[in-house]
Amino acid sequence: MTDPVPDPGDDLAVYVHWPYCARICPYCDFNVVRDRGRAEEQAALVRAILTDLEAQAALAGPRRLASIFFGGGTPSLMAPEAVAAVIERAQALFPPRGAIEITLEANPTDAESGRFAALAGAGVNRLSMGVQALDDAALAFLGRNHSADEARRAVAVAGRAFDRLSIDLIYARPGQTAAGWTAELTEALELGFEHVSPYQLTIEPTTAFGRAVARGAWTPPDEDQAATLYETTQAVLERAGFDAYEVSNHGRGPAARSVHNLHVWRGGDYLGVGPGAHGRLTLQGVRTATVAHRGIGAYT
Ligand SMILES: C[S@@+](CC[C@H](N)C(=O)[O-])C[C@H]1O[C@@H](n2cnc3c(N)ncnc32)[C@H](O)[C@@H]1O
Ligand code: SF4
Repeated sequence: MTDPVPDPGDDLAVYVHWPYCARICPYCDFNVVRDRGRAEEQAALVRAILTDLEAQAALAGPRRLASIFFGGGTPSLMAPEAVAAVIERAQALFPPRGAIEITLEANPTDAESGRFAALAGAGVNRLSMGVQALDDAALAFLGRNHSADEARRAVAVAGRAFDRLSIDLIYARPGQTAAGWTAELTEALELGFEHVSPYQLTIEPTTAFGRAVARGAWTPPDEDQAATLYETTQAVLERAGFDAYEVSNHGRGPAARSVHNLHVWRGGDYLGVGPGAHGRLTLQGVRTATVAHRGIGAYT
């Protein structure tokens, strides 16, 4: 099997940042806000994203589209019509060479899985599911708004709507053992994911977890235990036929690799649209970093 992205060349990927979340997780330091159902504000944000795409397309000049990635925040809360509008505009501005990978990050709640079919109808063809853990106590510790069973149900619904599924998991949680983590990872693989992104829990100082650890409320695993869990991750995934094609990304064979991740990893240009989104654009031969206003009000 050949590698899906041999060379990023002149092609361009698009990253769309949707900042709203139903609940803010205590470990997360991404650019996020609570979703308070402000429909007008969200409609204005969609318009601003479309305008930003056009403005950046004028700068970038004629390019081919390599992939689109909707990240967040929680883009599975985005109206499917808005997702469709962004996809349509991106493809009109940058004609793709054929069918391209269009990924969207989803939280595995019952409410959101009810929208998966509509998101697939909007053009999304790869779902990256933020399951984080398959253990109810761990999910409660991580402040997640779904149980392990709810996540399993969402995975089953996603499997009917999308051909390509990826799972995000967080390991190196306090008290986590190599045996427990092996069992969780093994279950995740049995659910049928072709792509796994295992992230070691990072304690960010500005988050609720950062404050809790600073005041001694709990202690993350020490370096040795974290290293053991990292090695467990690599061993379990390798045994199951997954290769680590990028730092935190493992695919079961080259076709399962994310075109978008590879494009960015290999230094391909990408546009970042949405509040706080970063981009990298080669303008008159100079690689230029772009970053959008972080605040929704300032961006729109
Ligand atoms: C930007 S989040 C969006 C995903 C989606 N909103 C969700 O929570 O499922 C992308 C991924 O980053 C990971 N992540 C975020 N903060 C982290 C942290 N402090 N330590 C480890 N992983 C983290 C989580 O696995 C999460 O799924
Ligand atoms: S982890 Fe996901 S759901 Fe939780 S606050 Fe961060 S982006 Fe939102």
